Amino acid sequence: MSAPPCSPPSDYEEEILETELTPGDNEFSRRTFVKAAGILSAGVATGVPRIAAAENAQAAAATTPQKISVTLKVNGKSESLTLDTRTTLLDALREHLDLTGSKKGCDHGQCGACTVILDGRRVNSCLTLAAVANGAEITTIEGLAHGDDIDSLSPIQAAFFQHDAFQCGYCTPGQICSATALLEEQKHGTLSTVSFETGHTSNPQLTDDEIRERMSGNICRCAAYPNIVAAVRAAARSAQA
Ligand code: FES
Ligand code: FES
Repeated sequence: MSAPPCSPPSDYEEEILETELTPGDNEFSRRTFVKAAGILSAGVATGVPRIAAAENAQAAAATTPQKISVTLKVNGKSESLTLDTRTTLLDALREHLDLTGSKKGCDHGQCGACTVILDGRRVNSCLTLAAVANGAEITTIEGLAHGDDIDSLSPIQAAFFQHDAFQCGYCTPGQICSATALLEEQKHGTLSTVSFETGHTSNPQLTDDEIRERMSGNICRCAAYPNIVAAVRAAARSAQA
């Protein structure tokens, strides 16, 4: 009678495995080896479908949508959503709250087009799960201006406008959110690689090199970089004046 799948060995089987297979035992015979190997292989063979079933169940669990309730405080307004746990903050903003200013460029954290400000820090919303942002204060490009007319633009928005710091505009919401957070970071003395390289680790000024370094996570396919740097420089100087 063969052993049931994955069941512990019977006393008889243990006797075979522990006694008859003892190294150096003169009674170790071909018959004994074949019998023991048969017991082991039967267990392995009958266990394979179970392993496969477990793997399938695990894969199914990973792909079955799980829901979560989150509250996102976006641009001063509290929004309650029920989302798939895998929903990114970018998709929650664009697909569920219709805030399409934040752009999906690469969806891989490489271009910065999706940059938003989360509790005062700039983040790539394509790499941030909405669940992680539960309860956080989120500012998107839609929340920077104080009204709909040109005089209501935020200082960074106005500087981008005055310095013609965009062409197609696809990267611009991310650039502006990033630059907005950059000015706050600089006020708090946050350092960059350039600060260390130049030895300005105490209250570093926003030189063009500092601006380029601190904006390096935001790619512009139109290469409007000189005007973007000029806009950030001008906004920084206005803020300091
Ligand atoms: S879309 Fe998020 S970094 Fe490119
Ligand atoms: S203005 Fe076109 S990608 Fe930056």
